[in-house]
Amino acid sequence: MSAAAELIGDAERGQTLFVRQCKACHQIGLGAIHRVGPQLNRLFGRTAGSVDGLPYSRPMARMGPMA
Ligand code: HEC
Repeated sequence: MSAAAELIGDAERGQTLFVRQCKACHQIGLGAIHRVGPQLNRLFGRTAGSVDGLPYSRPMARMGPMA
């Protein structure tokens, strides 16, 4: 692994952690759909609480584009 990659994180470890801790409620990747939580595609750079079709809690909805 290059030094640059180390600085921004370890994608392999991230995948392992995601599968263990997040996948039960979130999908990511091609064809991802909402489960208990929203699908997380294109998460970085978008507004929190902004994916269509998920009944966010009020605090999350307040962070979103409709607030
Ligand atoms: C038990 C189910 C569950 C697990 C496990 C879980 N989440 Fe979530 N997540 C949710 C729900 C439900 C919401 C929506 C919360 C709301 O509306 O208040 C959410 C919201 C989110 C959001 C905000 C999304 C948005 O559209 O703004 C992110 C980011 C997120 N989760 C990341 C993660 C990550 C990363 C993990 C693993 C470390 C994880 N979640 C584990 C259920 C879960």
